[in-house]
Amino acid sequence: MPVRLRIQRFNPETDSAPQWREYTVEVEPTDRVLDALHAVKWHCDGSLAFRRSCAHGVCGSDAMMINGKNRLACKLLIKDVKQPIVVEPMRGFAVVKDLIVDQTKFFEKYRAVKPYLIAAEPPPKTERLQSPKQQERFEDTTKCILCGACTTSCPSFWANGEYVGPAAIVQAHRFLFDSRDQGAAERLPVLNEANGVWRCRTIFNCTDACPRGINVTKAIVEVQNLLVARAKDPRGSDAAQ
Ligand code: SF4
Ligand code: F3S
Ligand code: FES
Repeated sequence: MPVRLRIQRFNPETDSAPQWREYTVEVEPTDRVLDALHAVKWHCDGSLAFRRSCAHGVCGSDAMMINGKNRLACKLLIKDVKQPIVVEPMRGFAVVKDLIVDQTKFFEKYRAVKPYLIAAEPPPKTERLQSPKQQERFEDTTKCILCGACTTSCPSFWANGEYVGPAAIVQAHRFLFDSRDQGAAERLPVLNEANGVWRCRTIFNCTDACPRGINVTKAIVEVQNLLVARAKDPRGSDAAQ
């Protein structure tokens, strides 16, 4: 079937402002929007720039705005979207070219929350044990693929690009609520700063945007609650139970 796409094009090295271009390509209704973008790039205009890798919703590289919402292009079927399909880069990041945005600061914030297991004891001979119930406590936030759809749909982030953002908080949550982790004392001060978790206004755009179905807002509120609990009892057990 013929499909019309309206794509925002911008090359900061040569263009003074973004401009819209329209393309019509032949795809199947069961193809994904990513297939349509490939058809544009391979058959209409090879200069179109976008990121993609896995094409199966697990690498997080092709998050972009499609018909006004942050989506993964590889997870959205052509038959489920209205035409013309309007495609733009995610908001709040500088555009490198077309649909590719600069994620340098996004990953700086990710690294700032120390997204790895911190444990004082040396590794045991086998694995660090954990009950299924303890694992359930942070199961939801392990699903994050760092696509950035949450952070770039957050009005608090649009208003203040220094806000640590929901994606970094989700990554922090994954370790703060892991019974094997002892890094809360290192991680929480970053989240308690002026641009930390308190910038969240529980707007829920992040939860709506998450292609992994993570309850992002709930994770943020749990980290806020943990900070409040620590303020009352600074010696609380390291791994949040
Ligand atoms: Fe993407 Fe969801 Fe992770 Fe945010 S929480 S970066 S939307 S997978
Ligand atoms: Fe933003 Fe999500 Fe909070 S949209 S304000 S981080 S609930
Ligand atoms: Fe990997 Fe879409 S290309 S998530």
